[in-house]
Amino acid sequence: MKIAIYPGSFDPITYGHLDIIERSARFFDNLIVAVLSNPQKQPLFTAEERMIMIKESVKHISNVEVESFQGLLVDFARIKKARIIIKGLRAVSDFEYEFQMALMNKKLDDCVETFFMMTSAKYSYLSSSVVKEVARFGGCIRDLVPTVVETQLKKKFFSK
Ligand code: PNS
Repeated sequence: MKIAIYPGSFDPITYGHLDIIERSARFFDNLIVAVLSNPQKQPLFTAEERMIMIKESVKHISNVEVESFQGLLVDFARIKKARIIIKGLRAVSDFEYEFQMALMNKKLDDCVETFFMMTSAKYSYLSSSVVKEVARFGGCIRDLVPTVVETQLKKKFFSK
């Protein structure tokens, strides 16, 4: 059974993330989308809210599961019996940080490999931060995030 993990903050999930999930899920029996629940970070959405939005966005892909984790990714991977970490790369600017992470994860657990996938060009400018910025000021995010996320962002920023 080939299990891979696609980790991230997903605050919130974008079409860029979904693109990586859809394309990478084809190569594994099971893809676990792992949502970082970090009490030290101050995300816009709670881990539960982020998971609900991801679950809704991936419900058409049968071999994708959504879970949250705390602590080290390699520990979570070991528990899940996953040896492959999937990461999306948008541009050279992502590379330095991701390269460091991949090497650190390898140092922590030599059994784990990081597979990088290039984000589709049409989403190469997308990030959760940019989406939040646009949504906060009432810009149109329809082509950037699944409908469930668009709805939740509007709720977060514009309903009392
Ligand atoms: O979407 P993000 O914020 O780029 O995701 C980063 C994430 C969650 C993949 C990364 O911060 C992570 O793996 N955190 C868990 C702690 C860990 O294992 N760090 C790597 C060794 S320093």
